[in-house]
Amino acid sequence: MKILMVCLGNICRSPMAEGILQYKCDNQNLDWEIDSAGTGGWHSGEPPHKKAQKIAKLHGVDISHLQARQFVKEDMQRFDKIYAMDSENYIDIKRIAGNLWDESKVDLILNQSSPEQDLSVPDPWYENTDAAFEQTFQLLDKACEQLLKNEQ
Ligand code: 4NP
Repeated sequence: MKILMVCLGNICRSPMAEGILQYKCDNQNLDWEIDSAGTGGWHSGEPPHKKAQKIAKLHGVDISHLQARQFVKEDMQRFDKIYAMDSENYIDIKRIAGNLWDESKVDLILNQSSPEQDLSVPDPWYENTDAAFEQTFQLLDKACEQLLKNEQ
C-alpha cells in the first residue's frame, strides 16, 4: 500500500499524519510506503514546523528528518491512496492532477474516523500554539488508527 498525506504547506498537518501512520505501520510490521506533500511550494525543502516536531516527539513520533515538497500530478499515479487534510487541499489536488485525476484514490483523512462527514483538520499554523498542534495530533492519530483498521 502506498499512501500520500497532503496539506497546504507540508510543514504542519501532513508531515504529522505521515509520521503517525509510519509509526503505527512500524509497530505492526507493515511495509507500506508513506509520504506527504503540500499543494503549495513555499516551504519546499524545509523540515516540519518546530511545534509539529515537538508535539509529535512528545508522543514518540520523530518527524525531524522530513522535508517539505510540493504535490505533483504524477503523485496521482504513484500512490494507491491520497488523503487531503481539508476540503481546499482536495480541490487543489484535483486542479494539479489535471487529466491524471482519479477520484477513487482521493478522500479527506477525517472520513476515516468520521465516515462521510467531510470534516477538515483545522490548520494549527495560524493559532501557532502547542494546544493547537496537540489537537491536530489527536485528530490525526484517531484517523490513522482507523485507516489501518479499514485497510486490513
Ligand atoms: P500546513 O500549514 O498546511 O498544515 O503545513 C500551513 C503551513 C504554512 C502555511 C499555511 C499553512 N503558509 O501560509 O505558509
